[in-house]
Parts: sequence; structure tokens; C-alpha cells
Amino acid sequence: MEKAIIVAYDTNRAIGRGGDLPWGRSLPADLAHFKRLTRGGDIIMGRKTFESIGRRPLPERENIVISSRPTGVKGVLTAVNLSSALALSRYPTFIIGGAQVYSDALNAPEIDTIYATEVDATFSDTDTFFPELDMTIWQEMSRTHHPADDDNAYAFDFVTYRRKTVG
Ligand SMILES: NC(=O)c1ccc[n+]([C@@H]2O[C@H](COP(=O)([O-])OP(=O)(O)OC[C@H]3O[C@@H](n4cnc5c(N)ncnc54)[C@H](OP(=O)(O)O)[C@@H]3O)[C@@H](O)[C@H]2O)c1
Repeated sequence: MEKAIIVAYDTNRAIGRGGDLPWGRSLPADLAHFKRLTRGGDIIMGRKTFESIGRRPLPERENIVISSRPTGVKGVLTAVNLSSALALSRYPTFIIGGAQVYSDALNAPEIDTIYATEVDATFSDTDTFFPELDMTIWQEMSRTHHPADDDNAYAFDFVTYRRKTVG
């Protein structure tokens, strides 16, 4: 079992715009992929991401929110930083954003996998970004292309990266 990052970004690595996803709700296949991967596991998120999903726990998952203050929301655990959140979590664990939490997770050696949705589009007025990956540390393991269709406004790739083992 693993501890993984799950993220979707555009061609500029943008993940957010005005507290929402840059592409809004126009990629239901990505939301279904997110649900399929994370269901039954633990999800760790920053307080602003928790606000963006409506300040309620996502069902069938343990929800851990990183914040300096308790959320006061029933069914949600609060941790003061990523390492305390990881200490509360069991496997499998998914880091679901946003930007600061992703940066911390990329530097945490126990996070060994990234499930990235690479959206083949460029959005304007974006304000939150996923860091560039250091490819001396990460390697691409698989990539599946999905063209745009009647339900999904943009083409995208599901990509899995794994942390290279040392030694
Ligand atoms: N495309 C994607 O895959 C994806 C995924 C997630 C989110 N998003 C988007 O990203 C945006 C939100 O992300 P964001 O980067 O602005 O915020 P965020 O990381 O979700 O939340 C930031 C907050 O989390 C807490 N926090 C995070 N790291 C901390 C640390 N090391 N120590 C203490 N507190 C910490 C702080 O909460 P307090 O201020 O309460 O102390 C901080 O203000 C939204 O637009 C959302 O839609 C996109």
C-alpha cells in the first residue's frame, strides 16, 4: 500500500483559480478517477481545499484537514502540518492538495507515488500551481491518453510517477 499525491494540472501546471479548479466541473472522468482511487482510503488536504469542496467530509474516506485551527466540522480530523497528518493516517493515503501541501508532500520521502491528470489545455487567471517535478527523483511509470468527448471538455492524460529508489 502506498502514500500518494493525487493532482490535476493544466499545461502551465495550474491547479486552481479563485478557489475552484481551473476547468470547473467540465472533466467528470477525472472526478470519477479521483473517487475510484481514493475511496476507502484516507485523504489529506489543506484548509482552503477543504473550503473548495464545500467544508464537508468526502464520504467513504477518512478526511484529514491541515490547518492552524480545528475546522469544527464533524467527521473531519485536523492536523497542524503534513507530518502530523501522516501520523494520523493509515494506508492507503492520498494527498489531495493544495499547493503548499503538495510542496511539503514532494519533500516527504514516504510519499512514493503521484497520480497526475495532465489536462491538455491552458487556462487564464489561474492562481495556484503544482511544482515542477525533479525528474532525477521521480520517474514516469505509465501514461493513458483520453481525448475530449461529449462529457469531458478537454483531452487529458492519466500519468503515474514513482519516486526512484535510492541506492
Ligand atoms: N487541481 C487539483 O488537483 C487541485 C487539488 C486541490 C486543490 N486545488 C485548488 O487549489 C486551491 C486551494 O489550494 P491552496 O494552495 O490555495 O490552499 P491549501 O493548500 O488547500 O490550503 C492552505 C491552508 O492549509 C493550511 N496549511 C497548509 N500547509 C500547512 C502547513 N505546512 N502548516 C500549517 N498549515 C498549513 C493552512 O490553513 P490555515 O490558514 O487554516 O492555518 C493554509 O492556509 C483551490 O483553487 C482548489 O480548487 C486543485
